Amino acid sequence: MPIAPVTRLLAVTPASIDTAAQTLSDGGLVAFPTETVYGLGADAANAIAIARLYAAKGRPAFNPLIVHVTDADAARLLGHFDVAAQRLAAKFWPGPLTLVLEKSAHCPVAELATAGLQTIALRVPDHPVARSLLAAFGRPIVAPSANRSGHVSPTLAPHVMADLNGRIDVVLDGGPTMVGVESSIVACLGSPPRLLRPGGLTRAAIEQVLRVPLAENTATTDGEPDPQAPIAPGMLTSHYAPRTPVRLGATSVEPGEVLLAFGPHRPVGAENAARTLNLSPDGDLIEAAANLFAHLRALDGSGATAIAVMPLPTTGLGEAINDRLRRAAADDKRLAP
Ligand code: TXA
Ligand code: MG
Repeated sequence: MPIAPVTRLLAVTPASIDTAAQTLSDGGLVAFPTETVYGLGADAANAIAIARLYAAKGRPAFNPLIVHVTDADAARLLGHFDVAAQRLAAKFWPGPLTLVLEKSAHCPVAELATAGLQTIALRVPDHPVARSLLAAFGRPIVAPSANRSGHVSPTLAPHVMADLNGRIDVVLDGGPTMVGVESSIVACLGSPPRLLRPGGLTRAAIEQVLRVPLAENTATTDGEPDPQAPIAPGMLTSHYAPRTPVRLGATSVEPGEVLLAFGPHRPVGAENAARTLNLSPDGDLIEAAANLFAHLRALDGSGATAIAVMPLPTTGLGEAINDRLRRAAADDKRLAP
């Protein structure tokens, strides 16, 4: 693969799926849609390809990757499933749930992908393009979100091109992703399981299957992550960062600001907003999650002094949406790589 690849943006056809699978076999990098966000895929067994992937994203190498597989049987070759993990996989795979498990003894995934940890993050995506690509490639694919490190996750192929054109080989354009926020990450390494990252599957849905409350992710998620600590190290405060300052809980709009609205009501001074985008005029959290990253990107590009964000409910998918918004608003974000 050349140092600066020409990035091919391909419509999804049987031929482009084959091209993408062959690119992965050759050690190349392929961005593809999942139901949550676009992922940047590499052969999970190829350490050179994974090193290129970290370089393309500008991602700190200590940050381990999620391994994507076709089904639970394929996952069982890579990680140890306790009873809770079996239950969650049976109920929610394929779907927006990542399980962090003890790595199996003969796990063929490159050490670089798991950042030297004894654990592995596994996910079975529920998107026809992701599933076709996994089937055509026939082996596990590592895939972080297909954005430059520190940027918001892509929910459209043009977002991927904006961040990674000239740095990766292929982008499969499967249109907008359905869920819009990343998978929920649950560590099944002891009892009770721990929610490492709120995401596209709600806490309530997970707890209903487990019949016990999830343990909290108590370790610090800002500053230097300890890769041995039971946290998702990618959850740096600055992870989801537009360049424009983000002002949360806005009940009014100041001159010079743009507005990220939610629901049917307009805040005081809404007429001041140079631009307004509404996550969901009806106040629907599913629709809001699907629009979140695309709206943040669009408002970030409008040259405003700040993005004023109206308050959103914290229940259901609101937990993941508010988590991503807090990270987008974090003070240290412009220091992010
Ligand atoms: O929805 C998603 O999960 C998307 C799509 C593409 O599948 N992927 C995604 O990957 O969000 P990424 O790399 O942006 O986030 C993966 C998260 C990071 O926070 C990482 O630290 C955590 O998973 N992670 C991976 N392996 C881990 C492990 N063994 N223990 C704890 N956290 C882990
Ligand atoms: Mg990411």
